[in-house]
Amino acid sequence: MKENVTSRRDFLTTAGKAAAVTTAYTMLNPIKSFSQQQKKIKVAIVGTGSRGSGMWGKELLAEQGDKVELVGLCDINPLRVEFCKKYLDTNVPTYTDFEKMVKETKPDRIIVTTVDATHHQYIIRGMELGCDIVTEKPMTTDEEKCKAILETEKKTGKKVTVTFNYRYSPHRQTMKEILMSGEIGEIVSVDFHWYLDIIHGADYFRRWHRLREKSGSLWVHKASHHFDLVNWWLEAEPTEISAFGKLNKYGKNGPFRSKTCRGCPYKDKCDFYWDITNNPHYTKLYVECEKADGYTRDGCVFREDVNIWDTMTANVKYTNDVVMSYSVNAFTPYEGYRIAFNCSKGRLEHWNHERQPWVVPAQDDIRLTKNFGTTEIITVKAAEGGHGGGDTRLRDMVFTPGMPDPYKQAADSRAGAMAILPGIAARYSIDENRTVKISELINI
Ligand SMILES: NC(=O)c1ccc[n+]([C@@H]2O[C@H](COP(=O)([O-])OP(=O)(O)OC[C@H]3O[C@@H](n4cnc5c(N)ncnc54)[C@H](O)[C@@H]3O)[C@@H](O)[C@H]2O)c1
Repeated sequence: MKENVTSRRDFLTTAGKAAAVTTAYTMLNPIKSFSQQQKKIKVAIVGTGSRGSGMWGKELLAEQGDKVELVGLCDINPLRVEFCKKYLDTNVPTYTDFEKMVKETKPDRIIVTTVDATHHQYIIRGMELGCDIVTEKPMTTDEEKCKAILETEKKTGKKVTVTFNYRYSPHRQTMKEILMSGEIGEIVSVDFHWYLDIIHGADYFRRWHRLREKSGSLWVHKASHHFDLVNWWLEAEPTEISAFGKLNKYGKNGPFRSKTCRGCPYKDKCDFYWDITNNPHYTKLYVECEKADGYTRDGCVFREDVNIWDTMTANVKYTNDVVMSYSVNAFTPYEGYRIAFNCSKGRLEHWNHERQPWVVPAQDDIRLTKNFGTTEIITVKAAEGGHGGGDTRLRDMVFTPGMPDPYKQAADSRAGAMAILPGIAARYSIDENRTVKISELINI
């Protein structure tokens, strides 16, 4: 078939199926008419590391300060919580005792940005103490904690929001818009492959993420983003998964090892050597807080205790009979992903190169090909801000009352559960060498 590549900036207007992408973005801009009379939402943060102090601290207050009042900060590391207070230039009280913080500061909402495997403690206790919860992904790391969260939500009548920022990036929203338009028919299967490079991918192996008991492994910590995107794009839920995984590069595979990059005798020959002290913010946030808990942000990627996989593949089946072939690799030369939706009337593809050592034109466009038809290129303008503009738009969605949600981007606890369950099932699938049904883990 001859390829006819055309610009599709006018895609949806021409198709007449939905508002144009730019119009959609205007629709989703923050509602500026938020009443000054309206009471601010009282917010407390637990977990004042990178995400808590940045995305949900400084950036939230800068953007949503007219709607949000920060009332308390909590972290198990007393030095980090004090640093966060300074960094945010605030007078709010700081705590290492969560219960005390909630009782004294009486927040309406608690933002949970602790280590993944500890989220459930704060989500559950926070709701029991009368607060709604805004939690970072993954909602939690295993099925028992997941059940406990869902039960507490039901019992207390409080609400859990899970902050899936990936849904909000302009490219992913455009793909959602195209799929919703029905132009290429029903989705039949999905090819989805995610590449974590030797910079970002390696970084997971320096931090607490390298331990399955803290992150649930990358099947949960990282893949929950991807599984959530697919659930959202397909408007379906996963039913079964068959997975493989191996640790090929990091951990025991290394030719040498140390505890941290600082002081490493192999620093001159290690490709992964990284000097955290070149980053003044990280030095304050992590290095200067080490004496309180011993946590080192620049751990050696070859430490023997790495117990997660760096090479993962799976087949996943969904409630609407769609099947997905999925993989994540954590030591690729470039960062990005490839996704394709094979549909009854055509194929929708996106090849994203977020970071790469060379420059290839048109690597971030969306391709829409109709069966017996032509290929069209859809160029989507990247938005400013973290995660392709997703972080900003997510904050708007979470804290702006009455925010329109035409693409169903807001995510509740069920979405939070459905994003982690395939990864939890993948772990069982690898450990037990069999296909695992989601219904074996939880019945919701
Ligand atoms: N949506 C995204 O794109 C995105 C990006 C980065 C991180 N995250 C999520 O944000 C959360 C925080 O990640 P981060 O990168 O800020 O990590 P981090 O290591 O910088 O911060 C984690 C903080 O939690 C604290 N902590 C650990 N255990 C605790 C406990 N039991 N009680 C209270 N505090 C505890 C640590 O002292 C630290 O300050 C994680 O759940 C992570 O998955 C999401």
